[in-house]
Amino acid sequence: MPWFSDCAAICRRDVALREFTWYRLGGPARWLVTPRGEAELAAVVAACREEGIAWRVLGLGANVLVRDQGFDGAVIRLQGEAWEQVEMGEGPGRIGAGADFVQLVKSSVAHGLAGLERLAGIPGTMGGVIRMNAGGRHGCIADFVRRVRVLGPDGQVRDRSSQDVGFAYRHSRLDGCIVLSAELELQPGDPAELAERHRAIWNEKYLTQPPLAQRSSGCVFKNPPGQAAGRLVDQAGLKGVTCGGAQISPKHANFVVASAGATAQNVLDLIALAKDRVWNQAGVELQLEVEIW
Ligand code: EPU
Repeated sequence: MPWFSDCAAICRRDVALREFTWYRLGGPARWLVTPRGEAELAAVVAACREEGIAWRVLGLGANVLVRDQGFDGAVIRLQGEAWEQVEMGEGPGRIGAGADFVQLVKSSVAHGLAGLERLAGIPGTMGGVIRMNAGGRHGCIADFVRRVRVLGPDGQVRDRSSQDVGFAYRHSRLDGCIVLSAELELQPGDPAELAERHRAIWNEKYLTQPPLAQRSSGCVFKNPPGQAAGRLVDQAGLKGVTCGGAQISPKHANFVVASAGATAQNVLDLIALAKDRVWNQAGVELQLEVEIW
């Protein structure tokens, strides 16, 4: 047993992960660990390595689907004061990995700092947003990152330049690393104009996507080069198709939404159906954007 297993201050056993994901689906984690600082986090990861325990970091669970059988390992949450600090101003500002990204975007707008308003309506923590280079049609986080501080697989803390992070479309090269904080570079802007752009992007999403309050993981598939996954799934005739309590959204076919009674398997079945149909009808192999645990 790893040392943290008996450390009630930071660890709970057999915790239902549905409480912590946007989908509100999936089984338990063997351990849910909330380290209180970098040293404790490094010790948790070291214990997992020594004892061959799988681990994952969970942010707000906005891009994760947990299987019904749960996750047999340690799920780490970077939550609390040590992880959520936000230093923002003109020039670079450091943002903790646990900071809520939607709130960060709002406060950058209120402070007259331009850039992040283009990323309106993306739920997640700073760490999660960096990890998957979250974004939309108006930009992605890589556009604003100067440096990322990570805990590496060797247990060392390092600052990595944006280039070194290897950002690509919905991708970073941070495997085995844990994002601790990020330095963002934002430009001064007119708060009223920023607020207007922020509102317009929220509105654009509201009109074309299921609302954030609905249970989903955002887009299920990455857009293949030059194409839109939503359009491909739509053209395959799958909008509105259901499996148990899950449904391919009638509003946007790249979303699978869950309602009462849904299981993670229902969502997985719809994902498999969409992948299959698009392959058979359009010859395109869709790649997952959502992470499946
Ligand atoms: N479309 C359809 N049918 C559908 C959905 C879309 O024909 O059911 C068509 C649209 O009409 C449009 C095209 O597909 O011509 C692209 O659709 P949309 O403009 O809605 O954007 P998207 O490419 O599907 C991307 C991001 C979203 C982001 C939006 C808006 C990806 C995989 N998706 O969606 O990100 O919110 O742009 O900025 O890159 C996410 O990453 O989780 C996500 C939702």
